[in-house]
Amino acid sequence: MSTLFTPAALGPLTLPNRLVMAPMTRNRATAEGVPTPLMAEYYAQRATAGLIVAEAATPNRVGQTYPDIPGAYAQAQTEGWRHVTDAVRAAGGRMFLQLQHGGRIGHPANSGLDPVAPSPVPFPDVIHTPDGPQPAPVPREMTLDDISATVADFAQAARNAVAAGFSGVEIHAANGYLLHQFLSTHTNHRADAYGGSIENRIRFVLEVVDAVVAAVGAERVGIRLAPGVTANAMQESDVEALYPVLTRELSTRRLAYLHIVFADPDAPLFHELRRLWPTVLVANPALPWPSPFPADGGRAEGERLLAAGADLVSLGRAFLANPDLVERLQQGAPLNEPRPEHWYGGTEQGYTDYPVLVPVPA
Ligand SMILES: Cc1cc2nc3c(=O)[nH]c(=O)nc-3n(C[C@H](O)[C@H](O)[C@H](O)COP(=O)(O)O)c2cc1C
Repeated sequence: MSTLFTPAALGPLTLPNRLVMAPMTRNRATAEGVPTPLMAEYYAQRATAGLIVAEAATPNRVGQTYPDIPGAYAQAQTEGWRHVTDAVRAAGGRMFLQLQHGGRIGHPANSGLDPVAPSPVPFPDVIHTPDGPQPAPVPREMTLDDISATVADFAQAARNAVAAGFSGVEIHAANGYLLHQFLSTHTNHRADAYGGSIENRIRFVLEVVDAVVAAVGAERVGIRLAPGVTANAMQESDVEALYPVLTRELSTRRLAYLHIVFADPDAPLFHELRRLWPTVLVANPALPWPSPFPADGGRAEGERLLAAGADLVSLGRAFLANPDLVERLQQGAPLNEPRPEHWYGGTEQGYTDYPVLVPVPA
């Protein structure tokens, strides 16, 4: 019998099912990073998810990756998010906010500032800007002051998120952004306490986690990791060694959850991290990317992950294209296909206009 539709505890929350809407950047905030009423509508449409993890929000200006992504550092952004969380709560949902600093994935045309990173190793590709794709600049190496200021910015962003009505925050240490850049010898060439050994490379992530926990409490904090995932030209040479050490350290903080991207239930590392992790494990299945989109949206892989020890399953594209995904999967109904041309930016088209099985009466 499927456990996908059984309730689960997440800290003080009770989730009505084990389906998590994965964080997805949709570039529909204002140029100042303020969430819009359209975003509130989009998330409220998906409120039957056990948990929604809202798209990556930047904890400061320099961490902004792409155009029109939301922030979590300014008062107007907190107020904008408040409308989003109110709409989701009114529709019966629960929501965390992902906090993401882009590090070398950024451009002055987007943030107004030169990107910073553990080391001056540029992203070997283009960054999307309002003027079109532009080569990524060489990032400035973070000073120790930059590091402590960034840690403080994450903590403040978490406070802002809770003030905006989120149940918690997900620290983004995955997919090649700043925290992931610190973990990898490929992007972290530092000779100080933040580079070199595994113990040093995980230091920044742990400092961010500890500051965010001190700000809002461990039961309001999740973390996303992507062991060995090559998104954003990430390369890692010691995945099997680093992630168990990091997970063991994180496990002592008793966070709300660990969220693993492209989790493989057949991989020994998945089982090792499960053994080491004391609270909720959220697994995002490794599905064909970006297409073909599986007809079941990832359900079968999700069930395999639950059977292998995950507590919750996160799905991205399936939720993006199916506001009523939970109901569709429960009924075995066909799914809408995601339309990638509307993923990043634009209007309500390809955003709030995906059909539901039974339209809500006006
Ligand atoms: C349009 C889009 C935007 C995404 N943005 C984010 C993001 O902001 N943060 C993040 O951690 N992952 C992001 N992802 C990755 C998803 O969270 C998820 O890991 C990925 O889509 C794989 O899950 P799926 O096969 O169920 O779609 C994004 C994916 C898509 C399709």
